Amino acid sequence: MVAHIKILVGTMTGTAELVADEILDALQAGEMDAEILLMDDLEPEIFETAAAYIICTSTYGQGDVPDNCQAFMDSLEEQTPDLGGIQYGIFALGDLTYDQTFCNGGVLFDRTLAKLGATRIGDILKHDASSGELPEDQAGAWAEEWLANLVNA
Ligand SMILES: Cc1cc2nc3c(=O)[nH]c(=O)nc-3n(C[C@H](O)[C@H](O)[C@H](O)COP(=O)(O)O)c2cc1C
Repeated sequence: MVAHIKILVGTMTGTAELVADEILDALQAGEMDAEILLMDDLEPEIFETAAAYIICTSTYGQGDVPDNCQAFMDSLEEQTPDLGGIQYGIFALGDLTYDQTFCNGGVLFDRTLAKLGATRIGDILKHDASSGELPEDQAGAWAEEWLANLVNA
């Protein structure tokens, strides 16, 4: 049984933080102990502190992760920690106007964590900012389903 879940946030203008707040509420409503961390100063050792993680990140530039998680992503790629036994989910924020790089920040995290041996639980949610629907309105239902999958994994 997973005792603690960390929600790691990559954001430029704060939308992913609003999403993370909704995810936190849903996890706590599901009786889970969880916390939100901005990825600004994280090191790969963060993956030694819990067994399950949700990456909640937007996309910028040419399909890059936001500035606040670039250094964390670089250290994961350089240090290649063994993430076997880690389970994770991805809530990706993007905009289909950027159709070549839609939600690529989340996709990059998915690829990196999977390459390091972690196991994704559930599907990546790819939010499209041009849809007019707010990502925080999709977050609770997605997190509930993710948690159900985690518990049954
Ligand atoms: C300058 C700029 C570049 C962007 N580049 C991409 C992109 O390449 N792919 C994508 O899917 N979304 C892109 N987006 C959309 C953002 O990822 C999206 O608006 C997201 O909801 C912002 O979340 P945040 O406030 O947490 O950073 C871009 C937005 C801006 C303003």
